[in-house]
Amino acid sequence: MIVCVCNAIRESEVRQAAREGASCPVSAYRRVGRRPRCGQCLPFAREVIAAARADA
Ligand code: FES
Repeated sequence: MIVCVCNAIRESEVRQAAREGASCPVSAYRRVGRRPRCGQCLPFAREVIAAARADA
């Protein structure tokens, strides 16, 4: 599933970045070489990160 349409970032990529230590969407996106644009994805990206970190 795509989290960020602007950057075509997948949920799996965000989850992986969170497991590797990214604590917010900006740092997660940076890990895959991108950065937020429109910002619409940020609430969902935060949820994905929070869930991944809770599982870790
Ligand atoms: S959907 Fe992620 S920045 Fe636009």
